[in-house]
Amino acid sequence: MPLLKSAKAARLNAHAPYSKFLVGAAIRTTDGAVFQGCNVENIAYPEGTCAEAGAIAAMCVAGAREIAEVCVVADCPVPVTPCGGCRQKLAEFAAADVVVTMATLHGAEVKTTVGELLPGAFGMDHMDL
Ligand code: THU
Repeated sequence: MPLLKSAKAARLNAHAPYSKFLVGAAIRTTDGAVFQGCNVENIAYPEGTCAEAGAIAAMCVAGAREIAEVCVVADCPVPVTPCGGCRQKLAEFAAADVVVTMATLHGAEVKTTVGELLPGAFGMDHMDL
């Protein structure tokens, strides 16, 4: 299934009663598996989670760790871009050249990469582990 179709399907299960902004995300891993996520809001607003975070969590539960491709979709005038926190979360599991497709429900699509979304990302190189 195309990643955008997966992201759109995930979006339908978003829990977004406060913002009313439903977001779907889908991740393909290097071994070809696809994981979906949707935003899950909470009445205690900061406890809400983004669609990308949900997809990453699903990927980890399945034991996968290497992201090959990402797609995010929402019903908005211009393609939705991952928030700052999700950019860092994606960078944990994706190389800088991993393509992120950002889409609307109406056919607009922008492609970028994890590296372009988070230049100068804080990473392993900064830590003496
Ligand atoms: N949101 C996502 O899930 N992903 C994005 O890429 C942008 C924003 C969610 C968070 C919140 O539930 C709602 O959209 C409005 O910010």
